Amino acid sequence: MSAEQQIDGRIAFFDSIADAWDGWHDLPLLEARLQAEFDALGVQRGECVLDIGCGTGNLTKALLSRLDSAGRVFAVDISPVMLERAQNKINDPRVCWLQGAAHQLPLADGSCDRIICFSAWPHFEDPEAVLAEFGRVLRAGGHVQILHYISREEVNQIHSEAHPSVQADLLAPASEVAVLFERNGFEVLSVADDASCYALNACKGRCL
Ligand SMILES: C[S@@+](CC[C@H](N)C(=O)[O-])C[C@H]1O[C@@H](n2cnc3c(N)ncnc32)[C@H](O)[C@@H]1O
Repeated sequence: MSAEQQIDGRIAFFDSIADAWDGWHDLPLLEARLQAEFDALGVQRGECVLDIGCGTGNLTKALLSRLDSAGRVFAVDISPVMLERAQNKINDPRVCWLQGAAHQLPLADGSCDRIICFSAWPHFEDPEAVLAEFGRVLRAGGHVQILHYISREEVNQIHSEAHPSVQADLLAPASEVAVLFERNGFEVLSVADDASCYALNACKGRCL
């Protein structure tokens, strides 16, 4: 199967689950957990944040509560139906909704202070190309977070039992992903890979 056919298969799959997605999550709990995460990460109120693989916009919504009038969110996803559902929920001029892929971001060089990839990293078929794009759109010293609120084993079990288009979308141990980040111009600040979460926090270049 060609790379284009693989991406088309994923788009069709995510389009098909867009209406069900929010019903599978405890959204108030998620919002509270994300706000605590932003505190721990030190997300500043005027930041420009890329929500990559934004889905139905739950991370974007939490970010909008965190950011002030100078803050911005680029909410990017390959699935037009996910984006449509997100836009139906969130009407805020600080968000720019864009259909696009993580390995070919529709954003200018150095346009983001931070990238958050929430429950989306294993779906990116070419991690090195994605990291090159993350490095391009982040300003020097900008941060990137990969985040899952379930364990790697749970993510991989869900995907391996799901539709064939995402069955091979498995999370590698965070220590291996950390090596990939370091090889591609990022400094890894922390990793977590345990029973309750999977997270990697890095910054572009060397951080003081
Ligand atoms: C598991 S959902 C997570 C959605 C959202 N981040 C959340 O946690 O509610 C993964 C999302 O990533 C998107 N996605 C998958 N591959 C992508 C890619 N290569 N580039 C951009 N988005 C992608 C899917 O369309 C889907 O909306």
